[in-house]
Amino acid sequence: MTLHRNETVALSGRDLAFSQAQHAVWRDLYARQLPNVQKYACAEYLQGFALLGLSAERIPQLAELNTAITPRTGWRTVRTVVRYSDAVPWYHHFAKRQFLITDYMRERHEMDFTPEPDMFHDIFGHLPFMVLPGYTALQELFAPAFLKATPQQRENIKRLAWFSTEFGLIRQGDQTKVFGAGLLSSYGEIQHVMQGKTPVRPFTMENVIGYEKAIYTFNEVLFVFDSVEALKAELARYFDAL
Ligand SMILES: [Fe+2]
Repeated sequence: MTLHRNETVALSGRDLAFSQAQHAVWRDLYARQLPNVQKYACAEYLQGFALLGLSAERIPQLAELNTAITPRTGWRTVRTVVRYSDAVPWYHHFAKRQFLITDYMRERHEMDFTPEPDMFHDIFGHLPFMVLPGYTALQELFAPAFLKATPQQRENIKRLAWFSTEFGLIRQGDQTKVFGAGLLSSYGEIQHVMQGKTPVRPFTMENVIGYEKAIYTFNEVLFVFDSVEALKAELARYFDAL
């Protein structure tokens, strides 16, 4: 199932050529997920989505993504062949404001669920947020904390990231909206969650650290916070004590 090409370097700012079949998977994923994010995504995601202006027709190239992202937040995207990255090199890139995007694109039989994050997840799920300074300030809390943490603390930090930036929920007005990129890029799980089929608990440090994250199934529990600022404050409770 490998899609790696011989000419691909480990990390690259170069744009890659994708096949028509890969662009078609992107187009169909985008078309299918757009109504879900319009209905369920938090206000921050929708604001960033409008600013980023992703193509509905083809996989975006790095240069066009960075044209939208870097002037606004100082972050840039970098391609990697790594399929499910080890957290240590990941956070070293994070510390340099580099957001890694895999060159792996799911195949047509994986439209509903891919256990490994693919470029649709990385781009459609994460990058709309990365044009917003208030959001990148949140992301910038993680690397310094992770890089000075003990191995056990690092597992807790990964869990805090998983249940916030990947799978978090946020209260907006009297509604619960989707904040996490893993849900925003998942046709199956976003609906499962928003139909009330996943138990939701308050996002506190103690609640989150007590749970094991699910990678190969839908999450069995998710966590909700009141705002991005409230999430930052809760993360700071853990990070400031390291
Ligand atoms: Fe992700």
